[in-house]
Amino acid sequence: MAKKDNQMKQLKNREEIPFLLNELNLTGEGVEVGVGGGTYSYELLKNSNLKRLYSVDVWSGEEGCLTYSTMKDYAVTVKRLWDYRERSTILVLDSLTACDLFEDGSLDFVYIDAMHGYDYVIKDILSWYPKIKKGGVIAGHDYFDYHSGVVKAVDEIFEEAFEEWLNSEN
Ligand SMILES: C[S@@+](CC[C@H](N)C(=O)[O-])C[C@H]1O[C@@H](n2cnc3c(N)ncnc32)[C@H](O)[C@@H]1O
Repeated sequence: MAKKDNQMKQLKNREEIPFLLNELNLTGEGVEVGVGGGTYSYELLKNSNLKRLYSVDVWSGEEGCLTYSTMKDYAVTVKRLWDYRERSTILVLDSLTACDLFEDGSLDFVYIDAMHGYDYVIKDILSWYPKIKKGGVIAGHDYFDYHSGVVKAVDEIFEEAFEEWLNSEN
């Protein structure tokens, strides 16, 4: 959701996010944390005016953990994002290591979709949030019951701020 002219704007799906960034004139740098095969990085590069998107993933392919993509997915990502290579940087790094590369208040957009367990999501949000500049957007994937850790972490961090924002004048 985004508030514009004191109104709420509800997005139907994540495909609308790049267009929202354009509407909000967010044309600086963005990050996708957890990239897999790069399909969403592709959408972001294709449909937003971000001058650079950093696509961050470990691609470690750890056995027994379905959440980790492999180096094959990395290769697929490189190929998929090739047409946008002038605006695309792929970082084979852990979320929190990559996060340290960015200055506080420097990013227009962060999209979090890495590990979905509660502790990981809390750490990702609290680490990446300060990197976003005022007026920027933080978003993420899989806020639904099946991923209860995502829901709990997001609610805990944002519920109060969201209420305040809803009741504010601007
Ligand atoms: C659900 S997939 C991402 C899907 C992608 N965002 C999309 O929409 O197509 C989760 C990804 O997070 C990556 N991942 C898991 N732990 C990570 C970490 N600590 N740092 C960075 N990436 C991580 C996995 O390798 C996997 O590719």
